[in-house]
Amino acid sequence: MISKFIYKANIMKKLALIALVASVVCGCAKDDSDTLKMITEATFPPYEFMRGQEIVGIDVEICRAVARKLDRKFQCETVNFDSVIPAVISGKADVAAAGITVTEDRRKNVDFSDPYVKTGIVVIFKKADPYTGPDCLKGRRIGVQGGTTSEAYVLEELKQEPERSTSPAESVAGLKSGRCDFVIADVDPARNCVKGEDDLAISDFITSEEYAVAIRKGRPDLLKAINDTIAECKADGRLQKWIEQYTAEADSQKDK
Ligand code: ARG
Repeated sequence: MISKFIYKANIMKKLALIALVASVVCGCAKDDSDTLKMITEATFPPYEFMRGQEIVGIDVEICRAVARKLDRKFQCETVNFDSVIPAVISGKADVAAAGITVTEDRRKNVDFSDPYVKTGIVVIFKKADPYTGPDCLKGRRIGVQGGTTSEAYVLEELKQEPERSTSPAESVAGLKSGRCDFVIADVDPARNCVKGEDDLAISDFITSEEYAVAIRKGRPDLLKAINDTIAECKADGRLQKWIEQYTAEADSQKDK
């Protein structure tokens, strides 16, 4: 387990180095390119998920609104969650929006917009083996999406190794098949995952978190455009409309 902590510290150091080199080499942030590139990880309904070949969701709408404000075209790409923040650090993408929780560790490497959602992580459990509090997780096999705050919770709070997957749904499949005993995930994808699963349930929040858009450090104009967009979408009801619309769409995908 100690080697895992060292591994994590090494990754943090590498990210910090990439951030430093990128800010020196590409001090010329591409604020003048004609396309705003968003990077995400699209297995996270209702924030980002697939509608056929298309990436859709609340985060996509927010970033598309930023592109419109900047009068730029818009592109969105999905990668593993581990690669989302590195993509803005290296300049491969302009904005990272993937239900990304603001954390002090991440703040060392990227700038965060103002938060747009208050949320947290929950435990998904089998009703036959209910979650009764953090102690019941000790020594059990806990599924998480790699690179997330749920993974950090298992490593840092429970001081044990999680069972990593590449999506909340894959973790929940592991819970159903017996590969793990509990799953920890963000509340909204967790709700989507347990929809229609009568033998599963979710706990109350075990953390309190906020989502924000992440960008490479040192792009004040882009940061302001994102913050202005978020404020406008909150004030004029668009954000609330997207939350309702995409929650309903993601839930209805489960009925199919
Ligand atoms: N909020 C959690 C975090 O920032 C999980 C985000 C996972 N997002 C995703 N699109 N898969 O670590």
